[in-house]
Amino acid sequence: LLVNVSQGSTKKMPDNLFGVSFEEINNAGAGGLWAELVSNRGFESGGLHTPSLIEPWSIIGDYSLVRIATDFSSCFNRNPVALRMEVLCDSNACPDGGVGVYNPGYWGMNIEQAKTYKLVLYIRSLDSINLTVSLTDSTGAQTLAASNIIATHVSNWTKVEIALIANATNHNSRLELKTNRKGIIWFDQVSLMPMDTYKGHGFRNDLFKMVANLKPGFIRFPGGSFAEGKSLISAYWWKDTVGPWEERPGHMNDVWAYWTDDGLGYFEFLQLSEDLDASPIWVFNSGFSQEQAVNPSNIKPLDVLDGIEFARGDPDSTWGSLRADMGHTEPFRLNHVAVGNQDCWRQDYRENYLKFYAAIKKAYPDIKVISNCDGSNTQLDHPADLYDYHLYANANTMFSMARKFDLTPRIGPKAFVSEYAVTWDDARYGNLLAALAEAGFLIGIEKNCDIVDMASNAPLFLNANTPGNKGFRPDAIVFDSYQTYGTPIYWMQHFFSMSNGATLLDSTLQTNSSNSLMASTIWFQNPIDKKKYLRVKVVNYGSNKVNLKIAFEGLDDHGLIDYSKSLKTVLSSTNVKDENSFQNPTKDYIAGHYARELASYHKLLRIPVYVKL
Ligand code: AHR
Repeated sequence: LLVNVSQGSTKKMPDNLFGVSFEEINNAGAGGLWAELVSNRGFESGGLHTPSLIEPWSIIGDYSLVRIATDFSSCFNRNPVALRMEVLCDSNACPDGGVGVYNPGYWGMNIEQAKTYKLVLYIRSLDSINLTVSLTDSTGAQTLAASNIIATHVSNWTKVEIALIANATNHNSRLELKTNRKGIIWFDQVSLMPMDTYKGHGFRNDLFKMVANLKPGFIRFPGGSFAEGKSLISAYWWKDTVGPWEERPGHMNDVWAYWTDDGLGYFEFLQLSEDLDASPIWVFNSGFSQEQAVNPSNIKPLDVLDGIEFARGDPDSTWGSLRADMGHTEPFRLNHVAVGNQDCWRQDYRENYLKFYAAIKKAYPDIKVISNCDGSNTQLDHPADLYDYHLYANANTMFSMARKFDLTPRIGPKAFVSEYAVTWDDARYGNLLAALAEAGFLIGIEKNCDIVDMASNAPLFLNANTPGNKGFRPDAIVFDSYQTYGTPIYWMQHFFSMSNGATLLDSTLQTNSSNSLMASTIWFQNPIDKKKYLRVKVVNYGSNKVNLKIAFEGLDDHGLIDYSKSLKTVLSSTNVKDENSFQNPTKDYIAGHYARELASYHKLLRIPVYVKL
């Protein structure tokens, strides 16, 4: 590999070249990054009718002793359904500990010893109340934390807040609400949040860190299909996801078949972007769900402008003031919006798009507008700052697509590769083969960073409990209630984590195996020690061992390059179908080997070379 380090042959790489694409899919948010432990906290998951779905709430005790049903008695206008619990037994006639309801969360709540959990619930009863609230193991036998709510005047809806401190750890716990007093109690908006979320912002710490470690330059949200919905009523409408959490209606994520309370709403996505120091990229609904369409005459760009005002407006503007009320007086730095997801094929897409484009550019000329139409082969027939490009393919096709943008004309808007992934049989949950093929593709993107502005893998997260027929595999990060690991796809992305804003050097492979090898070299400044490093990345997608010699041209490598400090990182395994797991989370990742040996075989190598300047 011949690397030319001289100034003339360099390319400045975009500051946000690599980022992440977050979608509410596979319980990535509800039951994942968003730390809320109660599932269906407002009893609304069946929609705005009764009986609504109560699941996963269940009763404790016999149906002859306790009965539950939903009705429209809530004090919240936008989510009118509440739970009515009728207890038919009294004191000694009730079983020990009482009867009631429990919520197992999203496949079990993670309760950890000595940690504090904030329980908030709304209650109402015409009788006096003596309620035990507790965190228990999955059967209710072991109590991890408990408290009592004793109240006589709750005939109007009353908000109760309790801090529960756990006396033991159980990763598969549940929340119980029990009584042994006859009568009727209504419950609504029952929330249990761990107190130690990232900066208190509600993000599960371990999952936040997994994303932060990728150093994403941007975060696309709230997803692809999730933004569209199958039906329009289930699309992502940002106004339903802001304001006090108790008042948010929540909605059925009908593409991925689960309910979300929208605790992770538009505000929280913007907050997440800020916490990650990543540019927010908001995908708004362009007037299409997967099965329906808004009549173009009813397209309302104003709704989107309101969303931009919510993010960036002054704290005294209509929507900026709501943001300020939610605790963020300063504007968020929203600079990109995407008009829909995969909607270019829709008959009226262009008509809708142009309405949104004109309105946004008039009010916010600096905002970059992303079209759904592919401009990589032919010029777009409408104005856009960027065009969205998605690639789902088998491993061989993905690797061959490393050359995809070589031939794209250097005029017109740049590409935003917002979703790419090796799918299904070639990847299963995310194996080494998928990671190598994607690494080849990303090296191709680095080399074409003059016309590809941003790229992100998709999907980002998978809750391992998501039923196989519901979720989307493979994914970068897998988790359950308390643990997480990165698939090789995740670790592969670390090889590119220093590329944002770096300098691409000219590197040429001089080999007969060039069909199965891809390589790139960047200069970057380490933000911690402020020193300059070269990082050489090589992927060997072939099945033959290759002896690779790296030579630097244009630099006195004896004088300037300190090889003794070079560090080799390898993503490899004995079998390309190997995957990581909770038990073996880094099977396919060998970090931090000091070495000069550069032979590779089914490997992705990263060799940052420390340079004395
Ligand atoms: O990434 C998973 C899905 O694949 C996205 O929701 C959609 O945009 C694409 O088809």
